[in-house]
Amino acid sequence: MATNRTFTMIKPDAFAEGNSGAILKMIEEAGFKIVAMKATQLTGEMAGKFYAVHAERPFYADLCAYMSSGPIIAAILEKDNAVEDFRKLIGATNPADAAEGTIRKIFAKSIEANAVHGSDSDENATIEGNFYFSEIERVG
Ligand code: CMP
Repeated sequence: MATNRTFTMIKPDAFAEGNSGAILKMIEEAGFKIVAMKATQLTGEMAGKFYAVHAERPFYADLCAYMSSGPIIAAILEKDNAVEDFRKLIGATNPADAAEGTIRKIFAKSIEANAVHGSDSDENATIEGNFYFSEIERVG
């Protein structure tokens, strides 16, 4: 069933460079409402769990090390057609392929340090949001 929520992380590169505010501004100006949000830091083990779907990929170990290398912001976002619209707003995984004006085009450094994560399906948006937030931590 389609939902109107997605999940995002502002990754360690963007957080460390002080781009979180600018990225959140773009997200809100695109019409997304913040339903839950926290600054936190993953352990390597927790990053491994979050990205378990990529466990067989050659970049998995580097990705887990990178994602646990510094603080991040995790958030649940609400909007009609949230998953698809958010992926448009952030642009392609590899910033070299991202469209002009997208968050990754503006802020990402590389395919790994690509500034933000966005869920790729409604099902994963729910799983990923539940990974970070209990019911009591959400606005709605
Ligand atoms: P994200 O949308 O968070 O989902 C998986 C992440 O793996 C992706 O963004 C990238 O940051 C990272 N990654 C690193 N190397 C690759 C690669 N070659 N292909 C896809 N994703 C990669």
